[in-house]
Formats: sequence, structure tokens, C-alpha cells
Amino acid sequence: MYEYEGKYVGLRGAVGLSHFFLRERVRPGDRVVDATCGNGHDTLFLARLVGESGKVWGFDVQEEALTATRGRLAEAGCLHRVELVAAGHELLSEFVSESLAAVVFNLGYLPGGDKTRTTSPENTLLALEQAARLLQPGGVILVVLYSGHPGGDVECRAVEEWGGALSPGLFNVWRSCQLNRPASAPYLLITEKAVP
Ligand SMILES: C[S@@+](CC[C@H](N)C(=O)[O-])C[C@H]1O[C@@H](n2cnc3c(N)ncnc32)[C@H](O)[C@@H]1O
Repeated sequence: MYEYEGKYVGLRGAVGLSHFFLRERVRPGDRVVDATCGNGHDTLFLARLVGESGKVWGFDVQEEALTATRGRLAEAGCLHRVELVAAGHELLSEFVSESLAAVVFNLGYLPGGDKTRTTSPENTLLALEQAARLLQPGGVILVVLYSGHPGGDVECRAVEEWGGALSPGLFNVWRSCQLNRPASAPYLLITEKAVP
């Protein structure tokens, strides 16, 4: 995040860059999704952006992650802006039917948790398909990708293939990696639904 608790800290890495785009696109009152809550950093960032009149849905399959996210939101006084969903993001459309300004994915495993419980290409692709359908024109899907853990490279390729196959008339898709970091550093896929 390039600003943390009011202090400018620079873009840093892929997560910071995703926050840069979120800050650009998400407005008070918007509906948004955090598809992988984890420790709740992105969920809180989104809850602050949508404000009192907006709404965030936050998904995770691990109770540990939802507990951490709930605590972070409560401490910041933002819990009432967020519906926490104890289900996989592959079920996105079962819980969300509104038009979305942004959907955020931070793939891989829960930092500080069980490193074998990672996101999977199958579920991520199912969720991305649904997210693309729910996105409002000008809305963005931001995916932070990790190739360094077992299976991560397969998931990266699957997500890139998904993005590369989207119609250029309907979506704009970018891949952003840091040239002065190791090839295994996290990177960002940005998908914008075109404005007709
Ligand atoms: C890298 S962490 C997310 C970090 C988080 N965004 C943050 O700010 O702390 C990835 C999370 O994805 C979750 N996850 C794995 N499979 C999932 C699925 N099918 N649906 C939703 N979350 C999933 C894991 O439980 C883990 O908490």
C-alpha cells in the first residue's frame, strides 16, 4: 500500500500497485468484493474506500482468515460495511448479484497460516468468470499472483491464459511485474471492463 495509516510508504510491490488502482476506481457507495480475505488487509482497504454507503463482500475458506479479518475490521470500526462469507470464491454469484466496481484476488496461502492451503486454478478461474460478469463498465479485477510456492506457477499460467482470452472489445487486460525484482516476485494482473 502506498499510504498506510496516513503515512506515504511508496507503491512497494504488487499489493501496493493493486491498492493504487483501487484508490483510482472505487468510490464511496460502490459495491466491491475481496475474493481472498486472508488477514483482512485488502478487505479493510476496500471498506474504507466504499465508505458508509458502500458494501464489501469478503470470501475465505479458512475460519482463521475470517477471524483475523473480522478483528481487523472491528478494530477500525468498519465491520458493518462488510459481509464476510465463509465459502469459496467459486460460489461468488450465489452470494453477490449486484454490479461491482472492483474484485480483488490475492492468491496463494494465508501468510502465517498453513502453506499447503492455497488457492487453486480451478476455483480461481470459476471465480474470475463470475467476477467478469458482475463487473460494471469501468470496473476492475485485480489479481496478485505468486509463482514461488508449489502449484503457484500453474495457477499463474491459468490466470494469464484466462486474461489473454478475454475479448479486447469487452475488456482491457494488463500484466504488471517488477523488472528489478526476482522473477518469482508477486505480480499483478489488471482487468478492466470496457466502457461502451
Ligand atoms: C494470500 S492470502 C490473502 C491475503 C489477504 N488479501 C490479505 O490482505 O491479508 C490467500 C487466501 O485465500 C484463501 N483461499 C484459498 N482458497 C480460497 C477459495 N476457494 N475462496 C476464497 N478464499 C480462498 C486462503 O484461505 C487465504 O486466506
